Amino acid sequence: MNLDAQILLVLRNLGGSAISAADLASQLGVGRSTIAAHIADLRRHGFDIPASPHGGYRLVGTPEYLNADDIVSRLGKPRVVGRDIRVFKETTSTNDVIEKLARDGVAEGVVAFAESQTLGRGRLGRRWFSPAGKGLWFSVLLRPKLTPQQTTQITVSASVALARAVETVTGLSPKIKWPNDLLVNGRKVAGILTELAAEQDVVRHVVVGIGIDVNIEPHRFPPELKQTATSLSIEAGHVIDRAELGARILRELDDVYSRIMRREFEAVAEEWETKCSTVGKLVVVTIGDRRVRGRAEALNSEGALLLRTEHGHLESITGGDVIVEK
Ligand code: BTN
Repeated sequence: MNLDAQILLVLRNLGGSAISAADLASQLGVGRSTIAAHIADLRRHGFDIPASPHGGYRLVGTPEYLNADDIVSRLGKPRVVGRDIRVFKETTSTNDVIEKLARDGVAEGVVAFAESQTLGRGRLGRRWFSPAGKGLWFSVLLRPKLTPQQTTQITVSASVALARAVETVTGLSPKIKWPNDLLVNGRKVAGILTELAAEQDVVRHVVVGIGIDVNIEPHRFPPELKQTATSLSIEAGHVIDRAELGARILRELDDVYSRIMRREFEAVAEEWETKCSTVGKLVVVTIGDRRVRGRAEALNSEGALLLRTEHGHLESITGGDVIVEK
């Protein structure tokens, strides 16, 4: 953790109380002039850190825009996810950024956030609406020891992590629509796009891209999304702190990923089933030109949806688009 993040961590742990420059300096093992220079830098980045001659420094407000040190200071010590956090003002797609870092040999766990994406993409070749400063658009690099088939476990687990974090930070009760949509009150608030680089049976790396409509106002949604999408702020009735939510998601992702690596996916899958609105429902799945209708019965050990078709067969579905009928 760099010094800026350490300063933020100390100030945040004081919960708005003040600390003297001398105490801050000795706690962090640096000189007072170094502290003063870093506080000035944090202020330039939009942190509201007033100082009084006797009381010292306190953290009153954080910037409107995402800041890597701010997220790091809220994270704790990640095992993997969030070891390296980068924030971009604008990019084509954060999945592209992570794909490039993967090819450059960067270690797993790196996360790229963007305030806006010019070519954000969703599943099945769709565009992903990513307005500036209104959502969380980010991607994570993983290098799991899994077969390509088993990587569905990652998407399923990521949706569990997302649901947990949204629940904790907003108090809402999100539901998961298979495989990876997060719904609140029946409308979509978030989606996950997992992209894979694999050779035959070996996964080289996985890019997990997550998009969350956090503070999008109703009038901003394009017409094609107005009926089906919503945002956390619309549903919660107030603006949500994106940095807090982002950090919480990374912590939950780190937790579920370590479970997958310890071969404990079963426990995550059980949690998924309790949060999933698809199991038990009649659904129509479209996979390319094929349509399969049936009842969603469960998840299998790899994260595929088990569908009892109209003809009584049990099919395991690993991709495609699901429409819930009832
Ligand atoms: C879906 O539901 O279709 C998946 C949407 C995934 C969107 C995110 S936003 C961050 C990352 N970058 C992208 O281009 N897509 C994912």
